[in-house]
Amino acid sequence: MKLTQISDLHFGAEEPELVDALADSLDQVSPDLIVVTGDLTQFGRRREFDAAARFFERLKAPLVGAPGNHDTPYLNIAARIATPWARYRRALGGHLPTQHKDARVHAIMLDTARGAQSRLDWSLGKVRLKDALKVAQSVAGHDGLRLVAGHHPIVAPGGLRGRARTTGGARAADLLVDAGVDLYLSGHLHQVFAEPLTNDDGSTCWFVGAGTALSRRTRGEPASFNVIERDGDHGALLVMAADERGVFECAETRPLEGLFSR
Ligand SMILES: [Fe+2]
Repeated sequence: MKLTQISDLHFGAEEPELVDALADSLDQVSPDLIVVTGDLTQFGRRREFDAAARFFERLKAPLVGAPGNHDTPYLNIAARIATPWARYRRALGGHLPTQHKDARVHAIMLDTARGAQSRLDWSLGKVRLKDALKVAQSVAGHDGLRLVAGHHPIVAPGGLRGRARTTGGARAADLLVDAGVDLYLSGHLHQVFAEPLTNDDGSTCWFVGAGTALSRRTRGEPASFNVIERDGDHGALLVMAADERGVFECAETRPLEGLFSR
């Protein structure tokens, strides 16, 4: 069991020489599933979506994915309100299903990005509790890995502050843990992290964040993607970071204790 998470590719502001390197590296890792946690484009432009679509066409593994806050027509307020995800769906809907289920994993995407909001900062995440409940119930009965993913973090290092202040995030996170979800994957922060959350019954869910896979906006960390693999009853997070030659290499391994213990 091995899956990869790629996030915040930001086509339109990508590092061009990393595109081939990322596709090659994903082929070498040969995961059972690739989870794409949003921000595929920089400004939601058609040519950016087309570049993202060409990239996903190259990949061999099954994909699931959802848009991030950049994947709406960024500077077109009317479109952001009326049809925020029309371009995303047209270009990428066929490449990125919102759900994948096989004997080993049930993965489902949670909507956290909004085209427009009633607050000033539209880049922030928002979770509807009914959506969180729905995805949690969908994966709850599965015997393998129960995976939920969304663009915005609902648990973050240092708490849901700054760019991580996702409305409804904390309640959604508690709900996922209580429903027996094993893993929640997010992007948006361009920062790798792995935080466990355990409820009173002892159930634990791991909340894992990814770096930006291709973007020049690296916020202090190199471009990277995550590999999550099984190691007995436990999981391991391998951070595949681009080195100075533009090659993705395993830069760090973090234990995900008990991830596969059920
Ligand atoms: Fe984002």
